[in-house]
Amino acid sequence: MKFVAKTLLGLENVLTGELRNLGAANITAANRAVIFEGNIKTLYKVNYCVRTALSVLMPIKEFRIKSKDELYSIGKSIPWEKFMNFKSTFSITSVVNSPLFNHSGYAGLTLKDSIADYFREKTGSRPSVNTDNPDISINLHISASNVTVSLDSSGEPLFKRGYRQAFAEAPLNESLAAGMLLMSDWDGSMPLTDPMCGSGTILIEAALIAKKIPAGKFRKTFGFQKWNNYDEQLFEQVKQECDAGIVELKTKISGSDISSDAVKNAMINIRNAGLENDIIINNIDFKDEATSKNAGMIMINPPYGLRLNPDDLDSLYTMIGSKLKHSFEGYTAWILSSNKEALKKIGLKPSKKHILLNGANECMFLKYELYSGSRKIDKIK
Ligand SMILES: C[S@@+](CC[C@H](N)C(=O)[O-])C[C@H]1O[C@@H](n2cnc3c(N)ncnc32)[C@H](O)[C@@H]1O
Repeated sequence: MKFVAKTLLGLENVLTGELRNLGAANITAANRAVIFEGNIKTLYKVNYCVRTALSVLMPIKEFRIKSKDELYSIGKSIPWEKFMNFKSTFSITSVVNSPLFNHSGYAGLTLKDSIADYFREKTGSRPSVNTDNPDISINLHISASNVTVSLDSSGEPLFKRGYRQAFAEAPLNESLAAGMLLMSDWDGSMPLTDPMCGSGTILIEAALIAKKIPAGKFRKTFGFQKWNNYDEQLFEQVKQECDAGIVELKTKISGSDISSDAVKNAMINIRNAGLENDIIINNIDFKDEATSKNAGMIMINPPYGLRLNPDDLDSLYTMIGSKLKHSFEGYTAWILSSNKEALKKIGLKPSKKHILLNGANECMFLKYELYSGSRKIDKIK
């Protein structure tokens, strides 16, 4: 069976690695997506464990059309009762780039009519649409005359892990935070700190990675659990097998923030994830943090300046650079920011640069090796 895991721009490679480790076959990276093959067990396992996918689609029909009417007639020929019945609620998300349709909404309505008529003709009743909390999420993709109808096996997007209830300023998407950690090659063997931790996303995702806790462990449901062919016993087996791999934390994960509200929120989220014995949090300005004696990794997602005046932002980034140089010698630092001008104030030469999308903001994700004497200033292109 073929599946499509959707992801954020820049995370295709780490997602490919994750899928390989989860036993997927014939993996091909695409733009913001990775295509792979496997069986139903693979689908359940990927949904339960994957950290960097937003959703996993299962294509159920791929075909070509010459007219709008053909979308209706072929849509009506899909054996829908394999996945739903007339009592199921459903929603359709459509992405359409085709001269056959002026509006993607119209293509979605056409497919909706074909599903409604399919069940009405067979049973006398039709399933109803529910866009907020549907039993079955259908994805319609039309590019020119090529149509793919898929089921979204995840339902609620997978970055909604279920542990985050308290929000700080500009929280990171959980899948993005996990992707940053996997890109950094942090594997839980060396200490990790986030001195601007906000709601604690990087710290929590780090602890989940280090302890091998499946990313879906805190979720109540997945989309495939509402499908007619859902195999509950198989999913229970998958969860047991994956949970059996959970290990104790072998290193120190710590964070801090200048805002006491952020620290409170981070603590709530850490507790929700059952990680209160694994992560230490402090309420402190980064400029006052003590010099670290051990080597490790420091990952920072500082404010991008959308709400700060330019002078304050420059001094904040200058302080970050100076603090890294003087108090974190021997560390590897990673910084995510959309503000290229402010990043120049760090005053260190990055050894790696990646581009990631944080919401609508295109960000640089920069690596700095903080060995002694690394004060070389370089322009960030
Ligand atoms: C973009 S947010 C981080 C969001 C976080 N990654 C999350 O997922 O919730 C930036 C954080 O930096 C904190 N901050 C700003 N200046 C700071 C400073 N000088 N020292 C420590 N924290 C600071 C802010 O309070 C805010 O929580």
